[in-house]
Amino acid sequence: MKLSSKTIKRLKSKYGNWALVTGATSGIGREIALKFGEAGFNLVITGRRELALNEISTQLFELYRVEVLPVKGDLSKHQDVEKLIEGTRHLNIGIAVLNAGYGTSGKFTSADLEQEMNMLDLNCRALLQLSHHFANKMKTQGQKGAIVMMSSIVAFQGVPNAAHYAATKAYVQSLGEALAIELKPIGIDVLTAAPGPVKSGFADRANMNMDLTLKPEAVGVPIIEAIGRRNTLLPGSLTKFLVYNLRMTPRWAKVLIMGKVMSGFTKHQAA
Ligand SMILES: NC(=O)c1ccc[n+]([C@@H]2O[C@H](COP(=O)([O-])OP(=O)(O)OC[C@H]3O[C@@H](n4cnc5c(N)ncnc54)[C@H](OP(=O)(O)O)[C@@H]3O)[C@@H](O)[C@H]2O)c1
Repeated sequence: MKLSSKTIKRLKSKYGNWALVTGATSGIGREIALKFGEAGFNLVITGRRELALNEISTQLFELYRVEVLPVKGDLSKHQDVEKLIEGTRHLNIGIAVLNAGYGTSGKFTSADLEQEMNMLDLNCRALLQLSHHFANKMKTQGQKGAIVMMSSIVAFQGVPNAAHYAATKAYVQSLGEALAIELKPIGIDVLTAAPGPVKSGFADRANMNMDLTLKPEAVGVPIIEAIGRRNTLLPGSLTKFLVYNLRMTPRWAKVLIMGKVMSGFTKHQAA
């Protein structure tokens, strides 16, 4: 999938030619970074793994000759979020894709609390700090800005067996929906992207056996195309099918249905 020249022109004339993608070393973030690179955007990219970060930086430069600023850091750590903010203050970043995140699954009582708190710090706290920083920065940059927040299909109801991960994404979804309205009058577009299962590093880290997965290539371009056009995007047909078909279902029943889906994804954990 390729971005259309019309989309590229629209995005550049509105937001300038610098974009930031957190969690660009793998999966959805990597795909989004590559598509921005292909479209000629200069990029700030982040991740914890230096090798993977160098690899995608080189790829972006060699393939598309764009400027790339790789920032290595663990965004669950406050000081690394600060480092990213300080290291990008001199750039007019017009599009900030806050994608870095991970999931957990399984029985809540067996969860490693340290890991859950770390996930909360990355999925919610870092996203809050970065969106607050970039919203304020974009407000004064003299061009429009866009913030993309990575939500999930699990954000729309509680999900037994991934209760805390779903709660972190409900936070993201709620924050994004509200800011899309609140920040519009000051020239900042906010998009929350809520994909269903995507084949990436996610499932391994979350210890989920997911089926019906989409490739990152199937969600990257739709997410970029929705910037400035939509407040929430449900990329992928399974996501649309589940969310639209369950629209009239009472919330308590949705919780049970999503619990069944998640039991399937985590069945192997009982063995
Ligand atoms: N895959 C799915 O089914 C799915 C569905 C809905 C939503 N999502 C969301 O989509 C986003 C991207 O996930 P993905 O599927 O692309 O997974 P992925 O392949 O595991 O990619 C996650 C990215 O986040 C970075 N990251 C992880 N922990 C980090 C930390 N502590 N500090 C900084 N960066 C960190 C990783 O880089 P390093 O390892 O180099 O740090 C990697 O680049 C996440 O927010 C996820 O919750 C995924």
